[in-house]
Amino acid sequence: MGAHQSRSRHHIRKEKRLPVNSVSTDSYASRDANINPMYKVIDGRRYLVSHNVIYRLPIDDTEVDRLHLQHYTYRYYYGSNYSAPVEELLKNGRARVLDVGCGAATWLLEMATEYPTSFFTGIDISPMFPTEIKPKNVHFIQRNVIDGLPFPDETFDFVFMRMMYLSFTADQWENVIVRELSRVLKPGGWLELMECDQTLTDMGPLTADYADKASGILEDWGIPMNLTEMIPDYMDSVGCFEELASETRQIPIGTWEGNLSQMYLDNVAAAYQTLRTAVGSKYNISAEKWDEITQEVKREINERRCSVQSTRFYAQKKDTGKLMSLE
Ligand SMILES: C[S@@+](CC[C@H](N)C(=O)[O-])C[C@H]1O[C@@H](n2cnc3c(N)ncnc32)[C@H](O)[C@@H]1O
Repeated sequence: MGAHQSRSRHHIRKEKRLPVNSVSTDSYASRDANINPMYKVIDGRRYLVSHNVIYRLPIDDTEVDRLHLQHYTYRYYYGSNYSAPVEELLKNGRARVLDVGCGAATWLLEMATEYPTSFFTGIDISPMFPTEIKPKNVHFIQRNVIDGLPFPDETFDFVFMRMMYLSFTADQWENVIVRELSRVLKPGGWLELMECDQTLTDMGPLTADYADKASGILEDWGIPMNLTEMIPDYMDSVGCFEELASETRQIPIGTWEGNLSQMYLDNVAAAYQTLRTAVGSKYNISAEKWDEITQEVKREINERRCSVQSTRFYAQKKDTGKLMSLE
């Protein structure tokens, strides 16, 4: 394994054919009575259109495949599904685990299978998670988490959230998300947040310019550009955690490290490519041109052997943990 590792302490379904550029509610939307999001289809990819949601990655079977792939990449490079010291708790059974923004639920389904006597809940605005075939100790809720988590205080022993940097504004991270995750955690329970840096290491000029343009769009949407630097502050500001620990990995991107890093290159490019319509209005670059640049950037990333730093932040809620007031 070529990934640099460190630990530190701080303070398959078949693709459905979609009509090009249409708005619909469909079978994805009909799975939950509490929420009925609209989907917009652009260039054959399905996107969520919902009040108070800034997330712009597609919600479709191709995205489910991308999320599965991303999951296996992280699991391989970390050698585990989590970093918080919760193994005994999960093995002992009856632990309650929440995965916020569970996506296709690959993590949750693996965890539920590995720890069959604990209970697992996944929550996501988009029902990419399986609704019928799933282990008995798993259930899913479709909800916009910006509206708050639909659980009483102190419900869960372990709350996990991964790769949600495109989902919330800086203000939402600080004033809603981290506070809600902390609120539903039991005293003595563990919170783990896993995110990647927004820049790659060893970027060439083409990649740097491309990444700048992408950042410009994301910033317009309110997405924080330095999330991995801010997470310790967000967690600290809640005031209910013991010392924060973290574990990092350098995830290699490109053909030089094997199949997973080759697939991760495709993964990064696929995520960037979804900005192809947004670059038109901001930079006057056509979607076709953006696709071309994306291919060149892929080549450059590969040649320069870029990687991205991923970090798992984890902390235990104090036994007497009470959230600090927002005033
Ligand atoms: C990049 S995916 C990560 C999925 C999963 N955590 C993983 O690591 O595979 C982000 C997920 O966040 C969900 N999401 C975005 N905004 C949300 C919101 N406001 N409320 C609930 N889920 C949201 C999306 O539907 C998507 O499934």
